[in-house]
Amino acid sequence: MYSSFIFEGNFDDFSDQEPQRAPIGIFDSGVGGLTVLRQLYRQLPNESIVYFGDTARLPYGIRSQAEILRFTREIITWLQQQRVKMVIMACNTSSALALETVRQQFNIPILGVILPGAKAAVQQGRRIGVIATPATAKSNAYKQAILEIAPDVQVWQVGCPEFVPLIEQNRIHDPYTAEVARAYLQPLLDQEIDTLVHGCTHYPYLTPVLRSLLPPQVQLVDPAVHVVAACAQELDLLGLRNTHLPLPTRFAVSGCPQQFSQSGVQWLGYTPLVEEVCFTDTPITQLQ
Ligand code: DGL
Repeated sequence: MYSSFIFEGNFDDFSDQEPQRAPIGIFDSGVGGLTVLRQLYRQLPNESIVYFGDTARLPYGIRSQAEILRFTREIITWLQQQRVKMVIMACNTSSALALETVRQQFNIPILGVILPGAKAAVQQGRRIGVIATPATAKSNAYKQAILEIAPDVQVWQVGCPEFVPLIEQNRIHDPYTAEVARAYLQPLLDQEIDTLVHGCTHYPYLTPVLRSLLPPQVQLVDPAVHVVAACAQELDLLGLRNTHLPLPTRFAVSGCPQQFSQSGVQWLGYTPLVEEVCFTDTPITQLQ
């Protein structure tokens, strides 16, 4: 069952009386952010969540910084209208290109995946490879974050333009995906990396493919695990952790709800009920 409409109202609003019961808002271009959502279920099972997938405008990884900034602002504005208490950018591309700017513009805690991922990477190794979208790789966000924490480690970043479309098309086990992965990993294997960071929230789905191509000693870092740990700390610090039972996760997308629901079920283990959201102030057609 799907609902498809232009959203006009608010999610149940606890925020005035009991702000800790308000949901956490998380977003990505598509199903990648579900890797972060799964960590929220594992680490913060009492939290209610609003998930937004900007599926009408993916992939983000080939967009300009101006576009990413505009999309990110629209999504955070919408999440704020849903009275979320905190936002997690479950998207490396937005975290790399828009986090600093939107943090100054919105009066709500906003967490990105890059710093938690970088901190985890330097605890694992000294020769760190990062696979990411072309926009994230080009931004150098991971390299800068890692070197700021540990100036003596070495970092190599590879942009992987084909991964997100292949994952969104459910082609993870297609032999072509393994072929593409081999080509992307080769420069990192040549550098004898000891650690590989999933610099895009879609990539943890590729773990079986990547593992089959990597030497066993290479450690994989999934920033989703670490951004949720950072979120737990932040909630405690702000006195915002929910101790009541959570509401069912609310899912919204800018593209086709049915498609998201069908592809999300394999990662969630249940069929999500998905709404369609149109940003009325900026029609999608004007943005493409
Ligand atoms: N999953 C997102 C990221 O972590 C966006 C991928 C895309 O749409 O290109 O970068």
